[in-house]
Amino acid sequence: MEYTTSEPRIGDAFGRTLQRCWAAGAAPGAAWEITERDDGYISAADATRYFTPADELSELDQRAVALAQGRILDVGTGAGRHALALQQQGKDVLGLDPSPGAVEVARQRGVAAELGSIAHPPEGIGPVDTFLLLGNNLGLLQGERAAPEVLRQLASLARPGALLLGTGMDPAGSDTEHTAYQDRNRARGRMPGQIRMRVRAGTLATEWFDYLLLDPHELERLIGPSPWRWETIHEQGPKYLAVLRLG
Ligand SMILES: C[S@@+](CC[C@H](N)C(=O)[O-])C[C@H]1O[C@@H](n2cnc3c(N)ncnc32)[C@H](O)[C@@H]1O
Repeated sequence: MEYTTSEPRIGDAFGRTLQRCWAAGAAPGAAWEITERDDGYISAADATRYFTPADELSELDQRAVALAQGRILDVGTGAGRHALALQQQGKDVLGLDPSPGAVEVARQRGVAAELGSIAHPPEGIGPVDTFLLLGNNLGLLQGERAAPEVLRQLASLARPGALLLGTGMDPAGSDTEHTAYQDRNRARGRMPGQIRMRVRAGTLATEWFDYLLLDPHELERLIGPSPWRWETIHEQGPKYLAVLRLG
C-alpha cells in the first residue's frame, strides 16, 4: 500500500500555544510558538513572552501603556499582557482577538477580552480613543494592498482625534535566508518585509496569513493616503513605537 502523508488540521494553533503555556504556569520554556513561512523557514520562540508582567514590559511598550488614554482597544491582545498592565493602572481597556484560545486565556488572567477582529469587531465596541497594535502588531497591516482597508476599518471605530499606538520592526538584516525571502518578495511585487506564514501547534495549523515587517519610512508611506496622521516615533534599534492620530 502506498504511504501518504497528512497535512495539519486547520485550527486555532496560536490559541493552543497560549493555552499550553498558561496551563504550564507560563514558566520560561513552557511552550514554544512555532511559525512556518511559505518558503519552508521554521522558527520557534518562547511563548512566555506573551505573558510578560507589567513591570518587565519593554521600554517601548511601557511608553505605549503610559500614552494610552480614554476608551482603549488592545487589537490582537493575545494573552493580554498590555491590557493587564493598563487595567492595573485603572485604565478602561478591552482586548480584541480572533483566536478563541487567546481570548479564553486573556479572560482567565482577568482581562476584559472579546472575540473578533479588525474586519469583524463585536457590536458596540466604539468609539475608541486609543488603539494598541503592540507586540509588533503593525504587522496586521499585512501589506501595501490590505493596509488602506485595515486603517480605514480602525478609523471607523474611532472617536475624532483618536490615537493609534503601534510597534513594528525594520526587516533589514544580514541573515541570508531572510534577505533571499525579501528579494523573492520584491520580485513578486510584494513589500520586502511581507511574510506569508502560519502558526503550528501539534497537528494543528492556522490558515496562511500575511504579517508585515516594515521600516518607519514604509509605514509613513502607507499612512499617507489614510485618515491617520503621523505624530511621532520612538526608536530602539530595529524596533519602534509609532504614534499616529486620526486627522
Ligand atoms: C504577535 S501576537 C501579539 C499579541 C499581543 N499583542 C502581545 O504583544 O502579547 C498577534 C495577535 O494578533 C491576533 N490577530 C491576528 N489577526 C488579527 C486581526 N485581524 N484582528 C485582531 N487581532 C488579530 C492574533 O490572534 C494574536 O493574538
